[in-house]
Amino acid sequence: AYDAAPFVPEAAGIEELREAAADCAGCPLFREATQTVFGAGPASSRAVLLGEQPGDQEDRKGEPFAGPAGGMLLRACEEAGVDRDQAYVTNAVKHFKFAREGHGKQRIHKSPSLRELTACKPWLEAELRAVSPEVVVTLGATAGKALFGSAFRVTKERGTVLEAPGGLETGVVVPTIHPSAVLRAGENRDEVYAGLVSDLRVAADVLG
Ligand code: URA
Repeated sequence: AYDAAPFVPEAAGIEELREAAADCAGCPLFREATQTVFGAGPASSRAVLLGEQPGDQEDRKGEPFAGPAGGMLLRACEEAGVDRDQAYVTNAVKHFKFAREGHGKQRIHKSPSLRELTACKPWLEAELRAVSPEVVVTLGATAGKALFGSAFRVTKERGTVLEAPGGLETGVVVPTIHPSAVLRAGENRDEVYAGLVSDLRVAADVLG
């Protein structure tokens, strides 16, 4: 089975985890991706922002949320009063999954499978042990499913304060939509953005 666990050092801090994750071969995604994109931010963070997986730019730069979705996330965090620089930012899956399509063979994002999510979860668990945040904000359906399982529905749970699932070292979880949903929105973009900010305010309130 796909599983990152054999690659995850025990009782490790973030830097040790990051070094080990660079060599992860727990699922096949490492083969096509440029590099592992591990979480980034202070280990002392009171908040963890959890995305889905690195995109094209993150894969090249080796940093989470370094592209357009990251810009949107930063803007929404600022407006909601969540200090993005004081948050640990990471993804449910640490390698970019994509298909090559079209003339220039553009790399098109593909959603990670449940197998890949499950395989990568030991990295997330280890990050949460190292950071031990007061709140995890899940960004989008995939991040929610990574914590709560495939029955998780972001439309139902967003903007609420949920108890963390057993075995995860975090205070509470606040789900919201993925910032890229704002970028993809059409004429209702302002509304979708306001919804993201409103959910992030719930997390800001938890932090006080
Ligand atoms: N989308 C994500 O979910 N994570 C990133 O790091 C970038 C885009």
